[in-house]
Amino acid sequence: MNNLAINGGSSVRSDEKKWPKWPQYTASTIAQLTSVLESGRWTISGRWTGVEAKESEFARQWACFNSVPYCVLTPSGTTALTISLEALDIRAGDEVIIPGLTWVATASAVVNVNAVPILVDIDYDTLCLRPEAVEAAITSRTQAILPVHLYSCMADMDALRDIARRHNLAILEDCAQAHGASWRGMSAGSLGDLGAFSMQQNKVLTAGEGGAVITKDPDLYDRLQELRTDGRRVRSPKTLHPGEMQLVDSGHVLGSNYCMSEFHAAILLDQLSRLEAQNRLREANANYLNRALKDIGIHSLLRLPQMEKQTYYSYVIHSTPEAFADRPASVVCRALEAELGCPVKQPYKPLNDNSLYCPQSKHRYMTNQRHWDELDPRRFSLPDAERAYQQSIVFPHWTLLGSCEDMQDIVEAVAKVRLHAAELPGS
Ligand SMILES: Cc1ncc(COP(=O)(O)O)c(C=O)c1O
Repeated sequence: MNNLAINGGSSVRSDEKKWPKWPQYTASTIAQLTSVLESGRWTISGRWTGVEAKESEFARQWACFNSVPYCVLTPSGTTALTISLEALDIRAGDEVIIPGLTWVATASAVVNVNAVPILVDIDYDTLCLRPEAVEAAITSRTQAILPVHLYSCMADMDALRDIARRHNLAILEDCAQAHGASWRGMSAGSLGDLGAFSMQQNKVLTAGEGGAVITKDPDLYDRLQELRTDGRRVRSPKTLHPGEMQLVDSGHVLGSNYCMSEFHAAILLDQLSRLEAQNRLREANANYLNRALKDIGIHSLLRLPQMEKQTYYSYVIHSTPEAFADRPASVVCRALEAELGCPVKQPYKPLNDNSLYCPQSKHRYMTNQRHWDELDPRRFSLPDAERAYQQSIVFPHWTLLGSCEDMQDIVEAVAKVRLHAAELPGS
């Protein structure tokens, strides 16, 4: 094998070889968008035209996809989490348990409702909440557990549901990275009280930006509707005449305008028709990588056996000290990027030491001194999240939409960097 590309050798992949594009669109996406443009209705808060709004259609389809009766759409995953916490009636000063390793929005949504995110350590093998750590973090102020199915690897939902039941806590699943995954036959998002999704550009189901909350609970659904529609609810088309408003005043709770536009919903309808096939392809390629990389001593994330449908927001491998001559993941990632010509990154920096998570920069969150001190993330210790940050390597999901040859390139690049790891710098 040649010298490492990062050290001036030739790379495993030539520049001519392209990775699959993301996001993807076809003529059907354009047709969906055009139909909204021409419909005269660009949002659910516009007037009824005699045709079902795209957002109602997508909400129905997304609920059906996840085998739940209800879905409310929002403009982002962050707003989906925020109205979910509001619907659960999380109050100022309440504690919500979240994993210390996640995108900052999981925590900022909790802070947005004036509650206190309690950062809990993860299980290094799955990168998801560790149930024993959750149980140890429960206090009289804890109201909810907010597991994140990071990189589509699902948290141990049997254990978390058991803890929630015994302590009378709500569960809000952050499914921003788990569209289509399932646990004992139940979709990610349908195992807790509420499941919040993001449809931001990098996600496996995307409209550029977007979000959704799913639930089985009709009361939570009513609250979610009002919370995201300035206190209004969506009227059934059966009672509507063209030109009438479909949103009707309700006003049981103070809401905000977090409606998704018809354009976004139209793109999502189009993208949803491809999701299952894409998930299957990503899974097949991930299975191939799992086998081939295991043969050279590299392990990917542990998917618990209860996970029936495996989906892949990212493909993650552990870079243990033995595997890459003690080189940190940051250095191994740079070497792999040079070999493959695609982004290869470390996971998120744990939230107790992440510059993006700085709740104390916003004075409106300071309800009292105690609350203020409790928002300081540095008070949490997260050794396994830190280890995962130092030792995990994350490939984006669109590489898994590639061919067998593309997967062989990944294996070859990992093997090459492993073999030459001692030639890499130590930091
Ligand atoms: C785990 C997780 N939670 C929440 C969010 C927030 O979603 P959005 O960016 O759509 O607001 C994201 C987005 O990256 C995420 O990855």
